[in-house]
Amino acid sequence: MAAGVDGEAAAEFVAVAASAEVREGYVTMAEADGLPIVLTRVESTVRAFDGTCTHADFTFETARLTRRCEIECPIHGARFSAVDGSVVKGPATEPLPELPCRVVGDAVLVAPFG
Ligand code: FES
Repeated sequence: MAAGVDGEAAAEFVAVAASAEVREGYVTMAEADGLPIVLTRVESTVRAFDGTCTHADFTFETARLTRRCEIECPIHGARFSAVDGSVVKGPATEPLPELPCRVVGDAVLVAPFG
């Protein structure tokens, strides 16, 4: 992607989805540099998290967003905040790492793990 992302090094950001694909009330799965990513939109803010459950290293292929804006792992039911990735319900004990995320035009850009 080109420069102009809030003064950050734009080269480390990659486009992972169209903004319109990331809808309120849903989890959107994406990928950046081969890494699974979970995208959420809560109160109009798009956020990106590591797409691997911290409980048992399960790669989310599906996950759902609960009515309380929690990302729910389909394997053992751990729930993570869709706002900051913190654990809301076990068995996971470690939060989902949040990734730098920007919306530029109609593109969602994420800086995957370095
Ligand atoms: S792998 Fe996600 S809760 Fe166990």
